[in-house]
Amino acid sequence: MTTDEKKPDDERSVPDTSRRRMIVSGSAAAAGILFAGIAQAQQLSEAPQTMDGLPVPMPPANKTAGPIVAGRDSKLQGRVAVVTGAARGIGRAIAVEFAANGADVIAIDIAGPVSTASNAVPATPQELEETVSLVKAYGRRSEGIRADIRDIHALRAAADRIEQRYGKIDIVVANAGIQYWKPLLDLQDAEWSDVIDNNLNGTAKTIRAFAPKMVTRNYGRIIVVSSMQGRHGTRNAAAYAASKWGIFGLMKSAALELGRYNITVNAVVPGLVATALTLYDTRLTESIAETGYHKPNGPLTPQEAWDRRAATMPLGVGWVQPEDISPAAVYLASDAAAMITGSEIEVTGGDSAKSL
Ligand SMILES: NC(=O)c1ccc[n+]([C@@H]2O[C@H](COP(=O)([O-])OP(=O)(O)OC[C@H]3O[C@@H](n4cnc5c(N)ncnc54)[C@H](O)[C@@H]3O)[C@@H](O)[C@H]2O)c1
Repeated sequence: MTTDEKKPDDERSVPDTSRRRMIVSGSAAAAGILFAGIAQAQQLSEAPQTMDGLPVPMPPANKTAGPIVAGRDSKLQGRVAVVTGAARGIGRAIAVEFAANGADVIAIDIAGPVSTASNAVPATPQELEETVSLVKAYGRRSEGIRADIRDIHALRAAADRIEQRYGKIDIVVANAGIQYWKPLLDLQDAEWSDVIDNNLNGTAKTIRAFAPKMVTRNYGRIIVVSSMQGRHGTRNAAAYAASKWGIFGLMKSAALELGRYNITVNAVVPGLVATALTLYDTRLTESIAETGYHKPNGPLTPQEAWDRRAATMPLGVGWVQPEDISPAAVYLASDAAAMITGSEIEVTGGDSAKSL
């Protein structure tokens, strides 16, 4: 099978080398070739540069981000994306932003209670349908599937159905998650297990269910959602922090295994984001303690919480919005990110400047 045969039908046809050639030579002549017509790029790839009289290898088209094209970091036309935890919050923002950039989006969510070891109010089927409507408003195909990411059979059935209906699966975002606040020594076994099972095992099951569809097509973009709480310890949320640290290990291991199939695996790492996961008293109070302030004795108003956090954040915000996170996912899903895998993008308003 040739490299081109392995590419999905709608892959860009413009090969890769004109930008590299321009960078290698640094010459105005090379720039002229680029602007003169990208249609000639294929021909250029057959005339490699030399170094010490020896030809310099050039990557095949599916092993590079290719030539510079305006807006290529946000082009998702013709892509089919699956987003878990898409009924609301960060998952919804990613689903809608994918659609805004041209992708069809299948929104998966349990849309109901997940575990007693979850502080957030459960999402609803109506919220899932609202995500679907928002995607369709961009003229894209969409549907909502109620499924639990802890159930690999349900995920595999969803993968089969999506592939049958949409022809392929290009992008998967494993975003669904829960959070639970309780001191480590007070945690029940089931509470610890539920958080790990949902966030870490569920993310692994999402990859294991959908990646085989990408392997057969030799193309894929997998994006997992970790957290800055997977970058450092989190007082009173050890299971959550452990699950999000685990996601980094999972992501990097998957990147090692799946790279040979042209599948990239990366993490988006949000800081504190205004969603149902966070906007309640315990979470905001804990977040103040994370900034180094003494933990407040009583509840804070949202404005007090914002002000205290904003004072410690490089960009002067108390927290960021779901729509601040989704552009990072679009970029990682685009062809422009072809050579990024095993990597992380932190979107925090500046929290990440304080962590390794
Ligand atoms: N909000 C933040 O500050 C923040 C920060 C860092 C990371 N994150 C991560 O971002 C992701 C999205 O969080 P959010 O803030 O949008 O929360 P959210 O509670 O608004 O959304 C999470 C969605 O995931 C779904 N879900 C949870 N478990 C599921 C399961 N087993 N099967 C199917 N769906 C399930 C929920 O129903 C919900 O719709 C989570 O992984 C979270 O850990 C959030």
